[in-house]
Amino acid sequence: MALLLAAAASARDKMGPPDIFLGITEAFKRDSNSKKMNLGVDAYRDDNGKPYVLPSVRKAKVQITTKSLDKEYLPVGGLAEFCKASAELALGENSEVLKSGQFVTGTGALRIGANVFLPKPSWGNHTPVFRDTGMQLQGYQFYDPKTCGFDFTGAVKDLSKIPEQNVLLLYACTHNSTGVDPHPEQWKEMPTLVKKKNLFAFFDMAYQGFTIGDGDKDAWTVRHFIKQGINVCLYRSYAKNMGLYGECVGAFTVVYETKRVESQLKILSPPMHSNQVKGMAAHIISMWTQLVSNLKKESSTHNWPHITAQIGMFCFTGLKPEQVDQLTKEFSIYMTKEGRISVAGVTSGNVGYLAHTIHQVTK
Ligand SMILES: Cc1ncc(COP(=O)(O)O)c(C=O)c1O
Repeated sequence: MALLLAAAASARDKMGPPDIFLGITEAFKRDSNSKKMNLGVDAYRDDNGKPYVLPSVRKAKVQITTKSLDKEYLPVGGLAEFCKASAELALGENSEVLKSGQFVTGTGALRIGANVFLPKPSWGNHTPVFRDTGMQLQGYQFYDPKTCGFDFTGAVKDLSKIPEQNVLLLYACTHNSTGVDPHPEQWKEMPTLVKKKNLFAFFDMAYQGFTIGDGDKDAWTVRHFIKQGINVCLYRSYAKNMGLYGECVGAFTVVYETKRVESQLKILSPPMHSNQVKGMAAHIISMWTQLVSNLKKESSTHNWPHITAQIGMFCFTGLKPEQVDQLTKEFSIYMTKEGRISVAGVTSGNVGYLAHTIHQVTK
């Protein structure tokens, strides 16, 4: 409410800056080209380009309706069963999680942090979310435009300069917006740095399961940090991997006391859901693979391995702003200026066209 009042007060004086994604979507809607593609959408779409409701979510909805639940307030810490299941999904059934709370959205959950170091670049909302709660924001090297991959050397250099007892924001899996994740061997070096500086590891985990459809695999990093005795807080969003967007479901888990935990423990996610996430991850992987093979078919002489090496819904193509402009003007392909594409706009029906147009602007 306070935020809404503040927004209303500033609106009296000036217009807010235009939203980039909204701008892209508006331009896309106005475009009459039947081949147009919107690669800026931040939500998962199926192979027909349609929003996807998970069958398990449909089933859960029916169960909720038939239960005729009341509308009473939940306790301050949220629904206990939800918090427990959420922590178990991320950390394993017997993890040493001592505190877990449910918040109105994933973004709401993000507001429980401290002074923060963000990867460069990071999800666009991290900056306003942390800044508006009075946090000091700084960055550390993450993406290397030369390799379209993770800049391990740069990251280690920057992390070792962070003053003690600050908060380090890390992506548990599938970095938004680059699709670049450190390799396990690189991750393994980080807990030592974090411990040395007594940093607090703040994990953003908005895409658990989207790497290859295996929630345990995507939780490995967080569990590894915990095993190394690091205090971790974990922010979760269920917008993407449960397809709950408008339902605004997220969770915030704080691990402030850890013992060595056996990581082979089974998570509680019902197999039904993991199959659905596997289906979504398989679709994502297939779209990126098809994009690269179509670029080869077009006889592109560039190297595109980063497209399949990057993980999750988003991919930094390495296209330059002028090439992005050309794609939009000549071929009705819409994306952000940094060349980030979302799998949401790519289907088996249009991936060939996308490869063709990318080849046209890069040959
Ligand atoms: C990295 C990251 N964190 C957090 C969120 C926010 O999730 P929610 O929609 O639940 O607020 C997103 C959504 O796009 C995201 O990409």
